[in-house]
Amino acid sequence: MKDNLGMNDNLHQLRCFGCGTRVPGTEARPDFRCSQCGDLFEVEYPGWGQRTGHDRPNPGALKWLWRERRCSSEALDHSGVWRFRELLPILESFGNAVTLREGNTPLYHLPRAAKALGIDQLFAKHQGMNPTGSFKDTGMTTALSVAKERGFEWVACASTGNTSAAMAAYAARAGLRSLVVIPEGKIAWGKLAQAMDYGAVTCQVKTDFDGCVRILTHVVKAANIYLLNSVNPYRLEGQKTPAFEIAEAFDWNVPDHLIVPGGNLANSSALGKGFREMRELGLVGRVPRISVIQAEGASPLVRSLAENNGASLEPVEAHTRATAIRIGNPASWRKAARVIQETGGWCLDVSEAEIAIAKAELGSEGLGCEPASAVTLAGLKKLRARGNVAGGETVVLLLTGHTLKDADYTIEFHRGTLLQDEEKAGLEAKIEGLRRNAQVVEATPEAVLAAVKGNA
Ligand code: F0G
Repeated sequence: MKDNLGMNDNLHQLRCFGCGTRVPGTEARPDFRCSQCGDLFEVEYPGWGQRTGHDRPNPGALKWLWRERRCSSEALDHSGVWRFRELLPILESFGNAVTLREGNTPLYHLPRAAKALGIDQLFAKHQGMNPTGSFKDTGMTTALSVAKERGFEWVACASTGNTSAAMAAYAARAGLRSLVVIPEGKIAWGKLAQAMDYGAVTCQVKTDFDGCVRILTHVVKAANIYLLNSVNPYRLEGQKTPAFEIAEAFDWNVPDHLIVPGGNLANSSALGKGFREMRELGLVGRVPRISVIQAEGASPLVRSLAENNGASLEPVEAHTRATAIRIGNPASWRKAARVIQETGGWCLDVSEAEIAIAKAELGSEGLGCEPASAVTLAGLKKLRARGNVAGGETVVLLLTGHTLKDADYTIEFHRGTLLQDEEKAGLEAKIEGLRRNAQVVEATPEAVLAAVKGNA
């Protein structure tokens, strides 16, 4: 069905990223791997490419409509994902959409970091301000809605924590059962608490994230359970929408550079797709560079690009305190490599101390984020030092998770117990300058006033 903006409502298919095989959306295997080559699928809208003249979508009308919806009282219009639904024709009926009013997240100016780096225009798009505290909500609303529409009763994911929190919440809203498979002892407590709160069946498995993915792949083949990991291409459709929000915030003149953390590498892929589609549809004139930053101990894509230009990827055993991105065998690495290469971005890694410092700096600007998000600022510092980012450029950091997701990390940093001496080497003064440990003081006004004086 076509609406008056010239967009098809429900015409999509899945195209294999590796061999180009196309299948209808309902015919993907339970593990979302191509039966020909084993690679991942992308959602494709064949109608968009065939438009000419009057049949083309009208960019001006779409921009007006998307902005108008922010004033609407409809639940779907309040969602920062579904208000762009003309670019998300994945459901038979938008009445099946399950929404927690995700998206529409703030874009904050970062004046102190900008000044320190000599960059005029530095912003943070804070995806931690989503309903369950991470960017995962934007992809969960789309993929879980597909699960609901197709009649599944159970959904599942393996996770480093945020995906499971988001999935459990959206499943609960939709009245579906959810299964969470997480690496025991390797996710932040706040995220585990969310899965329990939203009623998921939660399995803590004695393995790492990559091991959880392997186990769950067998489970979804053996039972009628809908997989909601980011191999599910409908997740990426929702996760592309922050690209629309960013473009809209800059009045459809995109920033020069977007910097994204890299774990399983779906988010960078999704944002790249979002910008690419906007350019193809004439909504923007160009796309930003997209750079991906990994933690030093979990940087298989950095190595792949350095060693063989992204032709192959050697999985690693991942180690980082930024548990959200503790991933050694990222599923979407090919898609992410293409986004980096096509947009002229970079892929680099940052150390544990660099992550901790960047996180404290973002906190001191009144934002805060979880450790995995802070790799973006740490990475920008390196890109700036290497001359990859010029002072006159407009840069956006994508902050992926809320600071309360991993309060233990923050407390340990400020107590001075987070980092080993060898990790801090050369950065001790910087770290000491950022630490704000809580003090225990006598129960008198004088003692509290003395604390103020001591820090004046
Ligand atoms: N930042 C946060 C806060 C995350 O939770 C994740 C991934 C990433 C960045 C990396 O995004 O995987 O698309 O490259 N978390 C997943 C999870 C893997 O299970 O919650 P990516």
